[in-house]
Amino acid sequence: MIEILRHLRPGARVLDLGALTGSFPTDYCPGAVVVRVDLELPAPGTCEGFVQADAGCLPFPDRCFDAVVANHSLEHIRGLSAALGEMGRVVRPDGSLFVAVPDASTFSDRLFRWVYQDDSGHINPFCSADALAADITRATGLKLNTARALYSSFEYLNRYYFPAGTSWRLRAVGNGNRRSIIALSYATRRFDRVFHTRTSAYGWAFYFGNIREQIEQGSWSNVCVGCGAGHPASGLLASKLVRRRWLFFKAYSCPACGSLNLFTRDK
Ligand SMILES: C[S@@+](CC[C@H](N)C(=O)[O-])C[C@H]1O[C@@H](n2cnc3c(N)ncnc32)[C@H](O)[C@@H]1O
Ligand SMILES: [Zn+2]
Repeated sequence: MIEILRHLRPGARVLDLGALTGSFPTDYCPGAVVVRVDLELPAPGTCEGFVQADAGCLPFPDRCFDAVVANHSLEHIRGLSAALGEMGRVVRPDGSLFVAVPDASTFSDRLFRWVYQDDSGHINPFCSADALAADITRATGLKLNTARALYSSFEYLNRYYFPAGTSWRLRAVGNGNRRSIIALSYATRRFDRVFHTRTSAYGWAFYFGNIREQIEQGSWSNVCVGCGAGHPASGLLASKLVRRRWLFFKAYSCPACGSLNLFTRDK
């Protein structure tokens, strides 16, 4: 989404929809006004510019935002078509829109829903990038500029998210231990390279409307198990962050958070 945010003029308005505590740091768009909307109140003092509202009924005038970001939130929103309509109403016709969602047909999202069961919150099962992009264009009037594939970090298996000892499902997939998440992430990427499958796939990122820079199309399959940031394999190699570990394996320290990850080449 930074490709949209870093081109906004000073004073531009950005809506972060389904923000939780914020989908991006405000320094991605210095000088812009960021409004964070969520149904749930964040902990006091954790989210500047917060407005509590339902995505299907936004308390803002027509065409008042230069950009709208819905990062991993549309899959959670009940009444999706009302929310898409509201996004179209509040965004300027010459504005831009960023949407990232999981593909419900992937191994990663199925595993997520299996482990979290009723608490997954994934109530909109998107299975077609083309169908979702067409729905968004129909509702907002903004044309699709670029869609790119996203890969999973499997970070959602971290035991931090589970009250101690409550989930036999989590225990069955490594008990939320960081090493087992690193191993799963690596194994799915290796499996995909050998068998041309999509076990490491997460979903898609869509860029609609007025996008001023060329969006990178490469598949960044190295997604950090600590912070979820994706990095191109070529960039990790060029910045000499990749080192050989334990005989066969290569590993890198995430440039964003420093976490250890096993490295694979991109397709
Ligand atoms: C996975 S979280 C989003 C994470 C955040 N965008 C980020 O990038 O870190 C999904 C959020 O959507 C919010 N949400 C669900 N239904 C909503 C609605 N109808 N209106 C506004 N927010 C909603 C949830 O409360 C939750 O905080
Ligand atoms: Zn990281």
